[in-house]
Amino acid sequence: MAKETRFGFPFESIPSSWYQVAWADEVRPGEVRPLKYFGRDLVLFRTVTGDFAVLDAFCPHYGAHLGYGGEVKDCDIVCPFHGWQWNAAGRNTWAPLDGRAREEVAIASYPVVVRNSIVWVWYDREGAAPMYEIPEVIDAAAVRYRPIYPDAVHGWQNVHLMPQYLVENSVDAEHFRWVHGAAGPLSVALKPKRPSGCVVDLRVSMVLGYGKARTWLTPDGPVEATIDSQIWGMGANFANFGVADGAVLIESHTPVDIEHSDLFVSVFLPVEENLPDLPPLTDREKSRIREQIVQLQRDLPILENLRYIQNPAYSRTEGSAMSAIRKWSEQFYPGSG
Ligand code: FES
Repeated sequence: MAKETRFGFPFESIPSSWYQVAWADEVRPGEVRPLKYFGRDLVLFRTVTGDFAVLDAFCPHYGAHLGYGGEVKDCDIVCPFHGWQWNAAGRNTWAPLDGRAREEVAIASYPVVVRNSIVWVWYDREGAAPMYEIPEVIDAAAVRYRPIYPDAVHGWQNVHLMPQYLVENSVDAEHFRWVHGAAGPLSVALKPKRPSGCVVDLRVSMVLGYGKARTWLTPDGPVEATIDSQIWGMGANFANFGVADGAVLIESHTPVDIEHSDLFVSVFLPVEENLPDLPPLTDREKSRIREQIVQLQRDLPILENLRYIQNPAYSRTEGSAMSAIRKWSEQFYPGSG
């Protein structure tokens, strides 16, 4: 990190990563959506067989935006202006006036995967291949979870912050105390201390309900909780609450442009294996979901107005993890090396 751009931020590019663009169950087969991410106009469509595709939005014929009036035909999208047809790879498959596919004409396409009921798109400024795979952490064979959409998700649009802020927020132990009301012993440990590769493993240790006889989350008194998290690239944080209550939280953040991001929260709640039908959400489950939304909401006024400090005045115990995560994150910024 050397130079400084607006808000003190040292990078001028959007980092390469997998980013969430939708929850899978919110998009029906045959549906078309305009998207605005990475400073680009995009179109998302879901084929009749249920696959997802993301292309640059503008048809190379006369420039129509495929997200406004485009229609899915089988596994392709048809332009609303003159009927040119495009497949998920962005190849032209039919040009009506020519009576054939114009194979030499293409639209830029983006790698798309569905993991954990979330639609992820790989972004790299130069179109380079993914540096890593986004994992499936929801193991339905081992644990039965409630579907997340629509009851256990929440999103914020066009928030004034960059993915870097949320990645750094994950290792900032003391902010859990000041912003989120955590009390008692508290620590965040990176495993290893100097992460390499595209994932950071970290363990947050705290005492839920510290100093209180009972809370709605800890009706039997305080619970020592270790929350094992993985930060995958610059786009997502997967947190497993393990013995605390078995929930899995996925926080993700997708750059709209260089200064703004959409944020997403998904809360996976385990349910008993042997229930034949899922009962309605209990009040406690509703509170659990709301709690995660409220906690992220608390970060936003601070992060939206942050001036990025390149050389923080670290207190005695905090510089190691933060400087390690900053060093690790540099690999995702094109040309930052
Ligand atoms: S602009 Fe798309 S078919 Fe003409």
